[in-house]
This record gives sequence, C-alpha cells and structure tokens, in this order.
Amino acid sequence: MARVLNAIVAVCPDRGIGNKGNLPWHPIRLSKEFAHFRKMTATPSVKGKQNVVIMGKKTWYSIPEKNRPLSNRVNIVLSRKCKVPPAGAHYLASDFSSALRLIETELADQADQVWVIGGSSLYKEMMGSTGMRRLFVTQILKQFQCDTFLPEISLDKYRLLPDSNTPWYTHNKVSRCTT
Ligand SMILES: NC(=O)c1ccc[n+]([C@@H]2O[C@H](COP(=O)([O-])OP(=O)(O)OC[C@H]3O[C@@H](n4cnc5c(N)ncnc54)[C@H](OP(=O)(O)O)[C@@H]3O)[C@@H](O)[C@H]2O)c1
Repeated sequence: MARVLNAIVAVCPDRGIGNKGNLPWHPIRLSKEFAHFRKMTATPSVKGKQNVVIMGKKTWYSIPEKNRPLSNRVNIVLSRKCKVPPAGAHYLASDFSSALRLIETELADQADQVWVIGGSSLYKEMMGSTGMRRLFVTQILKQFQCDTFLPEISLDKYRLLPDSNTPWYTHNKVSRCTT
C-alpha cells in the first residue's frame, strides 16, 4: 500500500511562510509552535523506526546550524544543483520522486512517517500528488513580512478537520485521501 505523506507548515494570515530565508516571525521564537513541530515530526508510531523529513535546500539552511540535522529524524534535502548532501544532512535527492524512492528502498526498514517540511514548491508538489495526503497547518494569527508563501490549499480536494485553539495560533488538520 502507498505510504501516507504528511506536510507540516505554519502560516501567516496571507499564507506567508518565510521571509529572507527565515521564518517570518524571526527572531521571535514561537516555542509552542516549535514544540508542536518537533513532536509531530520526531515521534514515530512504530518503536525502533524513525520518521523522515524531506525539505528543500533553503529550508535546510533556514534551520540554525546547531539544530541540523533535525534530531531523531532522517533528514533528506532536495537540490538539483548539489552533488553531495549539505554538511550534516543524511541524504540528498535530486527531486521529490527520488526522495520517495529512497524511502521505499534503502530506508524501507527504518522509515516510519514521512513529513514534508517545506518550502513552497515542495508543499505544492506534495499537495498535488496522488495518494493519502495530510496537511498539518498552524495558522499564525499575526501578520509578519513574508516573501515566501504556501500555495493555496484546494478545499474541494482537502477536508478541514478543526482541532484546538491557543492564544497565538490554531491548529487545523487538513486531509485529503485519493485513490
Ligand atoms: N513557516 C513554515 O512552516 C516554513 C516551513 C519551511 C520553510 N519555511 C521558510 O520558507 C523559506 C524556504 O522555502 P523556499 O520555498 O524559499 O525554498 P525551499 O523549497 O526550501 O528550497 C528551494 C531549493 O530547494 C531545492 N528544491 C526544492 N524543491 C525541489 C525539488 N522538487 N527537486 C529538487 N530540488 C528542489 C532547490 O535547490 P537547488 O537550487 O540547489 O536545486 C531549490 O532552489 C525560508 O524562509 C524558510 O524559513 C517556512
């Protein structure tokens, strides 16, 4: 059976996700949002396995060096230009399909959940791909300057599952299932 793919993202009201290579709210640290991201992406559902995070090269470099690679997760970085993984990354893939192939071959025994963690074009490719897809969207309720945006979520394809509220942001699970 094809693997479920998950994406996780935190968005400003204008769907902005980044600014100047960093999170829009940088240097403010949204500690609850950070803890949510870590809990969701780093917690495998099967003991002895690890989750996989797939990200574009700019997202990799947006992570502070001391936090790279993201711990307890297999880190795959996508780049068409790089010939070797960026220092600290576990794997390099030249496109999204190659990353998924890597997970189903070399990483098959160790990989549990697969998380797409940005940026923009990768979210778009994942959201448009066929199969069971789940988007975990944290809505940041304050607008910050943004130059990178989450592509529009097609609500005729994705179902909104309301979750919880916090003073700073709300969590909404948006899911889609296609055969
Ligand atoms: N708010 C959030 O939740 C969130 C999450 C993630 C990122 N961000 C922010 O978003 C920004 C980074 O996102 P971005 O969209 O600008 O860049 P990105 O997708 O992280 O990186 C773009 C680069 O990654 C490589 N790449 C991306 N998709 C690829 C594919 N399908 N196949 C092969 N290579 C691929 C290419 O590298 P080459 O040029 O080397 O080929 C491309 O130039 C930062 O500001 C970051 O802080 C925010």
